[in-house]
Amino acid sequence: MPMTSNNGTGPVKSAFREPVRLEGERVVVRPFEPDDAAALVDVVRAGEDILPPTFPREPSPETLAPWPDGEVHLPQREGTGVHFAVTDRATGVLAGTIGLFRVDWSQLTCEVGYGMRPSWRGRGYATEALTLVSRWALRACGLHRIELRALTTDRASLRVAEKSGFRREGVARGAERGPDGEQRDQAVFGLLRPDLDDAPPGRPPRLVGLGVGPGDPELVTAKAVRILGEADVVLVPVMSLDEEGRAESVVRAYTGKAERVVFALNDRGGVTGRRAAAWDRAADRVLRAFADGARTVAFATIGDPNVYSTFTYLAQTVRERRPDTVVETVPGITAMQDLAARSGTVLAEGAESVGLVPLTGGVAAFRAALDACDTVVAYKFGSVADEVIGTLKDAGRLDDAVCGARLGLPGEDVRPARDLAGPVPYLSTLIVPGRRTTRGGKIA
Ligand SMILES: C[S@@+](CC[C@H](N)C(=O)[O-])C[C@H]1O[C@@H](n2cnc3c(N)ncnc32)[C@H](O)[C@@H]1O
Repeated sequence: MPMTSNNGTGPVKSAFREPVRLEGERVVVRPFEPDDAAALVDVVRAGEDILPPTFPREPSPETLAPWPDGEVHLPQREGTGVHFAVTDRATGVLAGTIGLFRVDWSQLTCEVGYGMRPSWRGRGYATEALTLVSRWALRACGLHRIELRALTTDRASLRVAEKSGFRREGVARGAERGPDGEQRDQAVFGLLRPDLDDAPPGRPPRLVGLGVGPGDPELVTAKAVRILGEADVVLVPVMSLDEEGRAESVVRAYTGKAERVVFALNDRGGVTGRRAAAWDRAADRVLRAFADGARTVAFATIGDPNVYSTFTYLAQTVRERRPDTVVETVPGITAMQDLAARSGTVLAEGAESVGLVPLTGGVAAFRAALDACDTVVAYKFGSVADEVIGTLKDAGRLDDAVCGARLGLPGEDVRPARDLAGPVPYLSTLIVPGRRTTRGGKIA
């Protein structure tokens, strides 16, 4: 039967009218009942900030009265929202609240908000409740889009949104007024009805090597950000579990999902035992994630995943052990491109060639590249920096060469190579540009 008009734009949907009870593994999401009043009064007295803005500030058995008179359920009756209690399945204790609001039936959109009581946080309850409510809203109620907003600094909420399958769409700058009067940024997430069909069961698992650039979070592609949001698991290589990794510091600007895996990143001497063991352990982690139902595992790597990245060896190991894995890579901005931009150096013009040489094996290859190529880029040259400078002097190429250390990271240092002094860090790149004299002189 048609209901009253909603802003004159369409019928108010009756979808919320039925009493709803959603059961998960650990939580039950259900309408509020008069018996919840005591627990809610405790929530209000303790100043626990878990009630949605549309919730009556003085919960009582009357305001919580079951359908249709309870004030809490008014939005539900009018089709503009719905409030639910999130309870612990085992004990029935009130763990938090969740609700839909700003429901627009003409656009089939709404927002979702939730809050867990402090002692119930960090245990996966919010993720389970959000997953239950969002799937119900999209599948059973006919809504098309659910929006979720969280402060960009609220890592726990960002993680809940991502784990529940919401995709990060952008940042609403200054959208929330904090208690100190400061306007804060909100991350905006969306979950759409078609998103739920994106990963039909039976689809092969996907391992994605994500290039996240040299260090500056602004140098991450939109595609990488989308996949960080979609991925069920995001792995980042670190040298030790208690140290933030280089790719991790970039990834954390976009997701709280980063999980550390230890790699022997600084080992020398070929395929060392430590290296091989680290590749195997990381592959174990990826395969375990697939076995647990993950469809997409992303592995974030600095720069580009196809340029001297440990992702290559991880992908090989995973493919050998699970041949149906689909391996993809998302290109990233390399350190040499970032240095070119930051130092105002043209990498190649006209018919010039570019050679990229890693110098872990010494400077011989560098010397050869200076003869064979126009522009030469050196990676991993920290341990032979003095010899590199000597070689450049001998070749008469020192004056044009430029060096960048820790690009896009704290302590970034970009300077002419002739000014290099003291030890050069591992994260350093050198560009020796081709010799150019006249405008367009290198055009063939
Ligand atoms: C293992 S390779 C990784 C290359 C990376 N995949 C890329 O596409 O640029 C490490 C080398 O890349 C260069 N590099 C990576 N990030 C850098 C940064 N933030 N600043 C300077 N050099 C960097 C350094 O030469 C470093 O020794």
